[in-house]
Amino acid sequence: MKRKLLGALLSVAMVASLLAGCGGAAATDAPAPAAEATEEAAPAATEEAAPAATEEAAPAAEATGTKVGVAMPTKDLQRWNQDGSNMEEQLKAAGYEVDLQFANNDVQQQVSQIENMINNGCNVLVIASIEGDSLGTVLATAKEKGIPVIAYDRLIMNTDAVSYYATFDNYMVGTKQGEYIRDQLKLDSEAGPFNLEVTTGDPGDNNARYFYQGAIDVLQPYIDEGKLVIKSGQLDFDQVATASWSSENAQSRAENIVSSNYADGTNIDAWLCSNDSTAQGVVAALEANYNGTWPIITGQDCDIVSVQNMIAGKQSMSIFKDTRTLAAQVVKMVGQILNGETVDVNDTTTYDNGTGIIPSYLCEPVFADINNYKELLIDSGYYTEADLQ
Ligand code: BGC
Repeated sequence: MKRKLLGALLSVAMVASLLAGCGGAAATDAPAPAAEATEEAAPAATEEAAPAATEEAAPAAEATGTKVGVAMPTKDLQRWNQDGSNMEEQLKAAGYEVDLQFANNDVQQQVSQIENMINNGCNVLVIASIEGDSLGTVLATAKEKGIPVIAYDRLIMNTDAVSYYATFDNYMVGTKQGEYIRDQLKLDSEAGPFNLEVTTGDPGDNNARYFYQGAIDVLQPYIDEGKLVIKSGQLDFDQVATASWSSENAQSRAENIVSSNYADGTNIDAWLCSNDSTAQGVVAALEANYNGTWPIITGQDCDIVSVQNMIAGKQSMSIFKDTRTLAAQVVKMVGQILNGETVDVNDTTTYDNGTGIIPSYLCEPVFADINNYKELLIDSGYYTEADLQ
């Protein structure tokens, strides 16, 4: 009995320490419009982030018999595997049953997995969608049955079945990528001009437009004054998007850009990539047929391959989104929903999914580069040195 109580307290303490890396105490009514959230973030994830809750944590009594469905988009990308296993581990530690599914980036597969979760008695659904617009019908059933839905990382669009959204501040991710390029190229003091190319993500993922816009809002003034030049002429979102965020798609577009615009040895000074899978495609294209000076290349997720590329000087930075802190926040929200408590949100203005604003909790992303990756990624226990060899 005593052990159970201690376990429950430990579990609460662990979740609390994880949440500290997710923006600190939640301010239920303190909306922080993404467009204003541009100041430099302290690397919050380092000291506070603890390894995910272990099985020592005894189930919370009220959670017993409650099932949570967790739908993840794919196993292809490292981050979703980590998100899935963090969610599973932390939900189980809190005493919930978990139905965790990955959908191979196949929308129909994700729809039928969610149907099964509904039919199999899940009490709450946590969904990282493949295509934000494709879940309306299945989620109408969830709503009819009174099953709350939390959109995880990616907003689910055009359905009133979504109760809450938890993510990292997507606009801030883009801002930090743009600022990194601005600062590394010293755009405020150097004359330039500098050559820039841009690669963003999947048009069906609502996040992609936020990443893109956050970065472009920083870089656009330099493009307008001619200090940044886009030789390919491709800057509109639709021109620079990458279907399925696939490295292969990013690589083939980058190869075309290089052979059409930089084959004569002209330098590319920076390549804005919205995430690591697209950055890896651009790196592969440059390795294959680019002869100029290596450009600054941005990314996001701190995938192992991209951190290795960072150590090898092939990718300059990545955004670190500690999936442990997002999972901890969502597990907390699940508990609050099920217990009828006020659910922590810190943004009630930014994310309109087409049916109105979805109350959101935005965790703070930080950037990692060669100078701080050890502190952020290794000292916090996210990776071991051996993972990065
Ligand atoms: C996530 C990114 C990820 C991308 C590709 C986005 O929705 O926020 O972290 O890199 O999807 O999976």
